[in-house]
Amino acid sequence: MGLVTLRDVLGAAEVGGYAVGAFNCHNMELVQAIIAAAEAERAPVILQASQGAIKYAGLPYITALARTAADAARVPVVLHLDHGTSFEQAVACLRAGFTSVMIDGSALPLEENVALTARVVAVARAVGVSVEGELGRIVGTEDEISVAEREALFTDPDEATYFVDRTGVDALAVSVGTAHGRYRGTPQLDFPRLALIKERVRIPLVLHGSSGVPDEAIQEAVRLGVRKINIDTDIREAFVGTVRRELAARPEEIDPRKILGPAREAAVEVIRHKMRVFGCAGRAG
Ligand code: G3H
Ligand code: 13P
Ligand code: ZN
Repeated sequence: MGLVTLRDVLGAAEVGGYAVGAFNCHNMELVQAIIAAAEAERAPVILQASQGAIKYAGLPYITALARTAADAARVPVVLHLDHGTSFEQAVACLRAGFTSVMIDGSALPLEENVALTARVVAVARAVGVSVEGELGRIVGTEDEISVAEREALFTDPDEATYFVDRTGVDALAVSVGTAHGRYRGTPQLDFPRLALIKERVRIPLVLHGSSGVPDEAIQEAVRLGVRKINIDTDIREAFVGTVRRELAARPEEIDPRKILGPAREAAVEVIRHKMRVFGCAGRAG
């Protein structure tokens, strides 16, 4: 089918009232697991490459893996840059063939975030690629900060209106109580804030740090307008947990395929479950 843009899949998600899963990948097994899950569930899907993934595998490998997967896939596939760090990196990804880029200026003062994001939107639009911006900061679960400090980083609905108007982003990542990594307790999402943001900006919203968020909370977020949901940690846990069990069960095994094959299967199951929760299963057209 080939790669499609984020705007293509999120436009349909907006109309259908569901969210599309964006799954982090950094090796062949994970790309295959994500595509196998999408095909099994008949779901559109977003493959995303983080900063760590680009460092680990390199852009050419990631692009080649995603293209190979998308060309053979019977479902729409987006190749997305996760938490892009600079204008230059976004351009490198456009050139490499990504069909969506995130520019994360959330650590910058508002006007600098607007300026950087608008610059990326201008160049991405020229080549028909969609852009995700971030306003408000999504921290890591390992960050030792108080609840009050965390809430001070939540997305402000008025600023969100200004940011979206000034930048023209296609999707907005919001900070409403999720964090990257493994949670210690149950995350509490600020649903009234999410509803207010959606009322003001009316573009697809993105939920980062979605691993470990209870299914019911995810579904409420989707009801309130989240259309892209990022998952990394839950896949890592399933994959590495299976590697650990396989190695422990067969200490004499020296064939990597006997260890990585079951890990790939475990990742498929986690991703299929997420797709059903997000509502994108059966939506591949
Ligand atoms: O941005 C979220 C990713 O889960 C971080 O991944 O360690 O591959 O950069 P990374
Ligand atoms: P988790 O690892 O917490 O699922 O977060 C993924 C993410 O937001 C990638 O951008
Ligand atoms: Zn993220």
